[in-house]
Amino acid sequence: MAIRNIRTDGNPVLREVCKEVKEITDGTRRILDDMVETMFDSDGVGLAAPQIGIPKRMVVIDDREGHSFKLINPVITESEGEQLSSEGCLSIPGFRGKCKRPQRVSVKALNENGEPVEFTAEGQLAVICCHEFDHLDGILYKDKAVEYVKKEEE
Ligand code: NI
Repeated sequence: MAIRNIRTDGNPVLREVCKEVKEITDGTRRILDDMVETMFDSDGVGLAAPQIGIPKRMVVIDDREGHSFKLINPVITESEGEQLSSEGCLSIPGFRGKCKRPQRVSVKALNENGEPVEFTAEGQLAVICCHEFDHLDGILYKDKAVEYVKKEEE
């Protein structure tokens, strides 16, 4: 495993609509492992592949509350309710913001072995899913933020 360089706001890769993963190989699994290591190294709760310069639909999540995922080609199949989130992004260091996000989302994806996974996420985990999946469409949370501030000003 290796820690990858996190791309920051202004890098065009963060604005790409990422491509679906067609074939899951050892190389794919290596990238996902590196994403997990990079996420933990930066103390993040999620990381999307474009953040390490790879415009493919892959996300890793660990909410530190027992929910840990490696997701390939994830989609939200249902969403319900609304919450005001509190978000930061490893690609936008030093800032925080609040967005309107669904309270609950149902997710479908493939895992690192190409097996289908389905789960429902609520609360903070739903926020993490929405935030990370947005990265796959070139969307940053600041685009949707109803409040966006430098951390020191909070
Ligand atoms: Ni982010």
